[in-house]
Amino acid sequence: MTQPQTGRAQTAVIVLAAGAGTRMKSDTPKMLHRVCGRTMLGHALHAAAGIRPDQVVVVVGHDREKVTAAVEDLSSSLGVPVTTAVQEEQNGTGDAVASGMSALPADFAGTVLVTTSDVPLLDAETLEEVVTRHEMRPRAAVTVLTSTAPDPTGYGRIVRNDDGEVLRIVEHKDASEDELEIDEVNSGVYAFDARVLRDSLGKLSTDNSQGELYLTDVLQLARRDDKVVRGHRIEDGDRVAGVNDRVQLAALAAEMNRRLCEAAMRGGATIVDPRSTWLDVDVRVGRDVTILPGTHLTGTTEIGDGATVGPDTTLTDTTVGAGATVIRTHAVGATIGAGAEVGPFAYLRPEAELGEHSKVGTFVEVKKSSIGAHTKVPHLTYVGDATIGEYSNIGASSVFVNYDGVSKHRTVIGDYCRTGSDTMFVAPVTVGDGAYSGAGTVIKNDVPPGALAVSGGRQRNIDDWVIDHRPDTGSADAARRARNDSQKDGRSQ
Ligand code: UD1
Ligand code: CA
Repeated sequence: MTQPQTGRAQTAVIVLAAGAGTRMKSDTPKMLHRVCGRTMLGHALHAAAGIRPDQVVVVVGHDREKVTAAVEDLSSSLGVPVTTAVQEEQNGTGDAVASGMSALPADFAGTVLVTTSDVPLLDAETLEEVVTRHEMRPRAAVTVLTSTAPDPTGYGRIVRNDDGEVLRIVEHKDASEDELEIDEVNSGVYAFDARVLRDSLGKLSTDNSQGELYLTDVLQLARRDDKVVRGHRIEDGDRVAGVNDRVQLAALAAEMNRRLCEAAMRGGATIVDPRSTWLDVDVRVGRDVTILPGTHLTGTTEIGDGATVGPDTTLTDTTVGAGATVIRTHAVGATIGAGAEVGPFAYLRPEAELGEHSKVGTFVEVKKSSIGAHTKVPHLTYVGDATIGEYSNIGASSVFVNYDGVSKHRTVIGDYCRTGSDTMFVAPVTVGDGAYSGAGTVIKNDVPPGALAVSGGRQRNIDDWVIDHRPDTGSADAARRARNDSQKDGRSQ
């Protein structure tokens, strides 16, 4: 365990994730549904890790195999050790926290922060505020994070006395008419003094409308012992809004997206239509970037300064260099160089690497290939498993024939090549620097530098073949008319 920072107690975070999430009606556990590219469990652990706690415990129950596997992945990607504790039966939040406490050392005496795994907008800053407020002198026994809910239905209500001190939390189902009028609600996030928490959890009862052990009862037990109980109320209710069903999932995703777009705009990006622009949490957008409507930037996509992206573009785990233009494009795992032009209607697949000022144009698909600086692939082409040098031009409607039905092979094309329209590069094959190919060439053998590759025989025209063999067709009629016209023209001259 690391030493506590000056003035700050040792901190443990317990994340509750044992519930069934029935209202999601899903085979995926609720906390593994995604909001802006990250699972809700991921958001919870990112927030927890952000306050640099000494311990993190996730309480699992329903679907524990899937949730535990996700916890392990997140723990290693965040570089923060996270342990799991199993709550065998879901007997309420008090029971869940008791399970979490059993994963902490028996003598743990610092601050225990309790959060849940279904509050995607809860961030480290908010958790930090709760801890700071809790540890203000005199140190509190319990500090609950609260907000004002426009519709408090279902939430626990915060009962305060005339001096504004928090007395207790009453659950919606247990509340009196008067208490139901209270609009200050329990977010389900708290800081506890570990000793008070341990002591109170042993005293909880199931004497309530739901027959559960309520964590919320710890507050009145602490008050009864004359301990300090605080409420930390925040204005921004969305930060503590939870997800119980897919309608709330969509609403909070839209809100998080709105915030991500706002941050990008404050950072100097123009987003023409934030409502049709979707950004994942790990996306980076530079200055003077323009994002046009219908654009989805997901995963670890990065957009360099001055680039223009969209409209109607989806980029996943893709890097766009400064000043590049990417129009109506779908890209996954691609790298687009500075000043490159992509689209409209391009498809970049994993390991597509486009050099600076290169061009991948209309109806072009690129997979596992590098396209050198200033090289152009403008129209109707498939580039697979290729390395193309600089300042080359690939003619329209070309195919890099990379697959022989058994294995994939590479094509290597040099610098300053100009290959004709409808060239087939039958891999493995190499085209040397400065080589050309004629239209319709099928390149099966290596082309030396500076050579012109042509294939197929001379063109033969078999006169009147259509008129003789397809006599009663529109084609034959048209051919006959054209022949008569040209004879007449011949006579009049
Ligand atoms: C709880 C609070 C309520 C608060 C609300 C905020 C209690 C008694 N009530 O209500 O005051 O306004 O959260 O959302 O605490 N969980 C477990 N094991 C259990 C039960 C729950 O791990 O046995 C987890 C759930 O997965 C969830 C969290 O605890 O992440 C909250 O559970 P939930 O059932 O949503 O609590 P509520 O009864 O809605
Ligand atoms: Ca709930």
